[in-house]
Amino acid sequence: MQFPRRKFLHTAAGAAAWAGAAPLLRGQSNKSGKKLRLAVIGGGGWWAMNIARVALADGRCECVALCDVDADNLEVSADEIDGLTGNAPKQYRDHREMLEKETLDLAIVSTPDHWHALQTIACLEKGLHVFVEKPTGHTLLESRAMLDAARAADRVVQVGLHRRIGPHHASGMEFLKKGGAGRIGMVRCFAHSGGGPEKPTPNEEPPAELDWDLYCGPAPLRPYCRNIHPGRFRNYLDFANGTLGDWGVHWLDQVLWWTDEKYPKYVHCTGGRPIFGPAILNEREQTTDAPDHQVATYQFENFTAVWEHRRFAGNETEKAKVGAYFYGEKGIFHMGWRDGWTFYPAKKGDPIAHEDPKFDDEKDGHNIPPLWRDFIDAIEQKRRPVADVETGHLATNLSLLGMLSWKLGRGVAWDGEKETIPGDEAANALLKRDYRGPWRYPGA
Ligand SMILES: NC(=O)c1ccc[n+]([C@@H]2O[C@H](COP(=O)([O-])OP(=O)(O)OC[C@H]3O[C@@H](n4cnc5c(N)ncnc54)[C@H](O)[C@@H]3O)[C@@H](O)[C@H]2O)c1
Repeated sequence: MQFPRRKFLHTAAGAAAWAGAAPLLRGQSNKSGKKLRLAVIGGGGWWAMNIARVALADGRCECVALCDVDADNLEVSADEIDGLTGNAPKQYRDHREMLEKETLDLAIVSTPDHWHALQTIACLEKGLHVFVEKPTGHTLLESRAMLDAARAADRVVQVGLHRRIGPHHASGMEFLKKGGAGRIGMVRCFAHSGGGPEKPTPNEEPPAELDWDLYCGPAPLRPYCRNIHPGRFRNYLDFANGTLGDWGVHWLDQVLWWTDEKYPKYVHCTGGRPIFGPAILNEREQTTDAPDHQVATYQFENFTAVWEHRRFAGNETEKAKVGAYFYGEKGIFHMGWRDGWTFYPAKKGDPIAHEDPKFDDEKDGHNIPPLWRDFIDAIEQKRRPVADVETGHLATNLSLLGMLSWKLGRGVAWDGEKETIPGDEAANALLKRDYRGPWRYPGA
């Protein structure tokens, strides 16, 4: 069903963005004068609107439709786009109805992770190009199905790995690839924050404006609680894969960008919830269920990569909170986020090298504009984009293999060519998940 238009109070941030950007966006068009018709799925969400604002500022598409299961947030986003462009996008709750009714060229998919595969594939089957957020899939075979669908449809699929194009990431990679740190034997990726222990949140009836059944979609219909939506679905394993599935994809992707190897041959991950406490889900209340810390080891042919995260004991002792340390013969290279990159030479007296970060959006620290430009350029030039779905798939696989090993409680060998775990039935069963009907696991 299409939502009726209602006037709605804007958030302060939305209103400010609207007021600030409105004069800039009106009347822009691309060279041919014909704009691509864009839909945003998950359009009421934080990150979807970060991308949508960039897409509109780029000027080569118009936003004709927004889809979200939260009618209130959808209305706020629609009003913002109306203010930015003078055209109100149509509002939809269900992406299937939107894809049926609208004539579209491309879509942004920025829903919780468990929706990425079904919605991306539905868009591709309608012939749309897709900008989908990381991680590609929630389980490994979803991600594989997305890659296969993109190739079958011969459409451009850009994954939201903006660190693939951020200026300090690009120059840091050049430094590493030219041998600035010498031969590298180990990489340590990490994300640390403070928090815990966790108190359960009471279950309650979902708010009237939220279609909770459709939010859960192919995942189990767990009881609603206020701690899940918006944004905090990340630590509920029905919908996402905790910090490893969230931050891990970005930083493990930096490892794949640096190396010529495409995948590890062995993965082992440990972790748990010693500080947040046991996961709770009963008829009265619930907690998150993602681990509060994890350490995953990825054995590649010529080096070892380690992922570690901790969601407690965050303080200033460890200066770098997120990033990747590359350990080489000539010294230690740190690829960071807001701290740019720094090379600490092994030889005493040699100068430290450093580059500050440059963001297109200082507040959220991202480089979506060049990633979006590359997406539209790739469509126009009929080429693969910089964060092509295969790139996103291989990076997502690293996170998801870590999660798989953690769930299994032991390490797994990985045949990256065949994308299977040789001779290990119990492990292969975790490459996918059961879907709640009527949704069907893609490709299965
Ligand atoms: N690339 C990055 O750096 C980056 C940064 C932040 C978020 N993200 C990704 O963006 C995605 C969204 O994250 P967020 O923080 O904006 O979350 P959010 O909760 O703010 O937004 C998700 C939106 O999807 C909606 N939704 C849920 N099910 C839906 C369905 N079936 N159809 C349509 N809409 C549905 C929700 O109502 C919500 O409005 C995640 O995959 C996240 O990993 C990426």
